[in-house]
Amino acid sequence: MRFDIFTLFPEMFAGVFDESILKRARDARLIEIFLHDIRASTTDKHHVTDDYAYAGGGMVMKPEPIFAAVESVLQSPISNPQSPIPIILLTPQGRVFDQTIARELAQHSRIALICGHYEGVDERVREHLVTDEISIGDYVLTGGEIPAMVIVDAVARLIPGVLGHPTAAANDSHASGLLEGPHYTRPADFRGWRVPEILLSGHHAQIEKWRHREALRRTFERRPDLLERVELSDEDRQFLETLKAEKQNRAT
Ligand code: ADE
Repeated sequence: MRFDIFTLFPEMFAGVFDESILKRARDARLIEIFLHDIRASTTDKHHVTDDYAYAGGGMVMKPEPIFAAVESVLQSPISNPQSPIPIILLTPQGRVFDQTIARELAQHSRIALICGHYEGVDERVREHLVTDEISIGDYVLTGGEIPAMVIVDAVARLIPGVLGHPTAAANDSHASGLLEGPHYTRPADFRGWRVPEILLSGHHAQIEKWRHREALRRTFERRPDLLERVELSDEDRQFLETLKAEKQNRAT
């Protein structure tokens, strides 16, 4: 999968894409990341990329360098309806990124990410260039670079081969719609705190059942909102009822 990132600060990405899993994925050509400096697409002497907002309100990114940068890399992207390349603006006004959107983006062979800055980008970029707008959460960052890193990371790890184990991504928190339960490694006894016996038992079916219940428990305790969106079996519902009853007993 190919990621094209349009930014005023390409140096910010050094390190993040050059370590660990993303580095291995790049080395294996499972992902390709191209950084494009928006400033390089300016045509004026001072390479100006922003200007005062009409009628006041701070600085706004000018449309010409953004259009020029994107169009030089993705020739007429929107005019190819067969395989449109999503052109995504990172902005706190976008739809809020989650695992479902990560999965949706991972279906594409290529996506483009535009990092906004200052008070934002000229509205014509929104109206006539981008095909999607994404926020990584309800808070305001200094620019779209860190959100772009977040999206590349979350999407890249869904691409087959990027994680070592083929089912690793399927077992993540959020992949099933539930949070993951607890994990343990050696030693079995650390300062007197023992690993749950079931995990040492070798009974695979029972361990799977325990894991699923712990995932339900954790989701119930921390993110009950997620339970409304997942498919639950009758057994799951019964288990959740016992958790609810336990909680009520504790409260009284
Ligand atoms: N730019 C500034 N804040 C942002 C956010 N929360 N998500 C995406 N882009 C942003």
